Amino acid sequence: MAQIKARIIGTGSYLPERILTNFDLEKMVDTSHDWISARTGIDERRIAADHEQTSDLAAAASRRAMEMAGVAPDQIDMVILATVTGDFPWPSTACLVQDKIGASNASAWDVSAACSGFVYAMASASKFIETGSCKRVLVIGAEIFSRIVDWEDRNTCILFGDGAGAVVLEGQEGEHGILSTHLHSDGSQWELLYQPGFGSRYPASVAGIEARLPFLKMAGNEVFKMAVRSMYDVAVEALQANNIQASEIAMLFPHQANKRILDAVSKRLKLEDGQMYVNVDKCGNTSGASIPLALDEANRKGLLNRGDLVLLDAFGGGFTWGSCLLRW
Ligand code: COA
Repeated sequence: MAQIKARIIGTGSYLPERILTNFDLEKMVDTSHDWISARTGIDERRIAADHEQTSDLAAAASRRAMEMAGVAPDQIDMVILATVTGDFPWPSTACLVQDKIGASNASAWDVSAACSGFVYAMASASKFIETGSCKRVLVIGAEIFSRIVDWEDRNTCILFGDGAGAVVLEGQEGEHGILSTHLHSDGSQWELLYQPGFGSRYPASVAGIEARLPFLKMAGNEVFKMAVRSMYDVAVEALQANNIQASEIAMLFPHQANKRILDAVSKRLKLEDGQMYVNVDKCGNTSGASIPLALDEANRKGLLNRGDLVLLDAFGGGFTWGSCLLRW
């Protein structure tokens, strides 16, 4: 029997309307456009409107992906949503999205792997498809980080943005689709990038709010070094497992964390100009949403051609990191 691969048959994304520029941030914390632009490559990011929830962003991106795929909501067998900024701690935001888009025949669940979430979700989806358990899986990355960043902390608030991206994966025979996935974690380093409250360790309390526990904490320098090393290592792992050279990759979609991180990875992989897709300047770090957002942007610009080798490469809190190689 011919092997089934999980192939992307539609992509979609959604960015909130409101743009927050570095110049806007100058009025909020002690920073400057020049500092942010030079240290991160970020010029602006999107901020969700008060009435928008993560499930709304996810549903909007999903509708666009399903429309491109020509797939009706009731033809989706599973919804996997990568997010760490869901509408509620539980139920899963994937369940809310399932309801919003009318994917009435799907099971739905969230993946919590921070900025690596989309790659983790793609790896999971591919296994359900390759084993024949599912025909079509909707894989989404959606985040509203603007609700968990400390807007008084200039070290972190300048980095993040809101958005969502989605893909419809379908099981098909042939050469096209996901060729490999590689996932890694190092839980010993969780404290370098995390959101302390509120969970079982720090249950909700007034003192916890005063200690700013609901806001993201990050050791920027350590995260930076680990991100470069991990994203490089896991890209090389994918290349070696598939017996290909970096020069054969048509487009690398890295997690859009910081332009300097991406430049360092690109340099170590010896990529040519244009081989790595970058939109961090306009979107900031949208965590689990960043890769599918970039993928949809590139796809709609016509930058991806049938047969292209495409590599997704992510790193995030946990620590977690991973890659997904696919033939377009
Ligand atoms: N504006 C102006 N100055 C700032 C600033 C800001 N927004 N944020 C920090 N600074 C200051 C620091 O206070 C420090 O000042 P000091 O020397 O007087 O103490 C100085 O700039 C240098 O800080 P440093 O942390 O060494 O800068 P950096 O070059 O490492 O850049 C980050 C900081 C956060 C941009 C960088 O570490 C980074 O991008 N890390 C990875 C973050 C990331 O991608 N996380 C998500 C991964 S999934």
